[in-house]
Amino acid sequence: MVERAHRPASSGMRFENCRVVATGAAQGIGAQIVRDFASQGAEVAIIDKLLPEAEQLASELGGTAIECDLSDPCATRSAVTSAITDLGRVDVLLNNAGIFRITPLLEISADEWDSIFAVNVRAMLLTTQVAAGAMIKQGTGGKIINMASMGGKTGAANQAHYAASKAAVISLTQVAAAELGEHGITVNSICPGYVLTEMGAATRTPEMVAEWSSKSPLGRLAQPSDVASMALFLASSDADYCTGQAMNVTGGMITH
Ligand SMILES: NC(=O)c1ccc[n+]([C@@H]2O[C@H](COP(=O)([O-])OP(=O)(O)OC[C@H]3O[C@@H](n4cnc5c(N)ncnc54)[C@H](O)[C@@H]3O)[C@@H](O)[C@H]2O)c1
Repeated sequence: MVERAHRPASSGMRFENCRVVATGAAQGIGAQIVRDFASQGAEVAIIDKLLPEAEQLASELGGTAIECDLSDPCATRSAVTSAITDLGRVDVLLNNAGIFRITPLLEISADEWDSIFAVNVRAMLLTTQVAAGAMIKQGTGGKIINMASMGGKTGAANQAHYAASKAAVISLTQVAAAELGEHGITVNSICPGYVLTEMGAATRTPEMVAEWSSKSPLGRLAQPSDVASMALFLASSDADYCTGQAMNVTGGMITH
């Protein structure tokens, strides 16, 4: 039985005493998630390539920001190590950073494929190795949350590299859950549908938003806060018996 370090303290805030390392949290879904963690008492370290944005948010939240290009393996390992040193410990690793491209299957170059997998999948393996290693040393257990996508379950035209990378995230999550469970570490992924963030904004038209919204029984696309609620649930003690799962936040667009 692993003694968990991030039990809420007397203030009753759900994540008091909880130290969160989050990648790709300078903007979009990740920024919303770290805001919600901080508003419930967590201390956060943001790892992102957008340093000014990460620093601005970290200073608002009383956290720290670390600049890192997650496509660089050495820089990735050292950024997570620094984040854990700054926080003094790690209870939650949020692997949120991801890149998205729309390219027809027949036009995807080897370099484009590799660049997507480097950030969306390989960086996730490296951050997990460092953070899970620290959690095991701490003996406190921990929670690892990986951002996948509905596309990782369904695929989508012109997204072969992105969809395959997100299927790999789901698989990596299952393997990590199987190996880390004995240390009291849970590992789950989140599969959002369409979320209204900067990612994809350049290619998103009002007509597309209307068409996608009509595919959800709820008649709308997700807000970042819908995804953040799932992340905080998975990081909480309410999800202690949940591991290896790929949780949909799609407004019912898919049900598997
Ligand atoms: N927006 C959607 O509709 C949607 C749907 C399903 C899944 N997702 C996933 O959710 C996650 C967040 O998406 P978002 O919409 O907030 O995207 P976003 O583009 O708004 O934010 C992504 C963040 O990751 C950071 N990042 C990207 N590449 C990086 C790199 N090489 N090194 C360091 N940081 C890097 C960016 O700087 C940014 O802060 C991604 O993993 C994405 O695949 C998004």
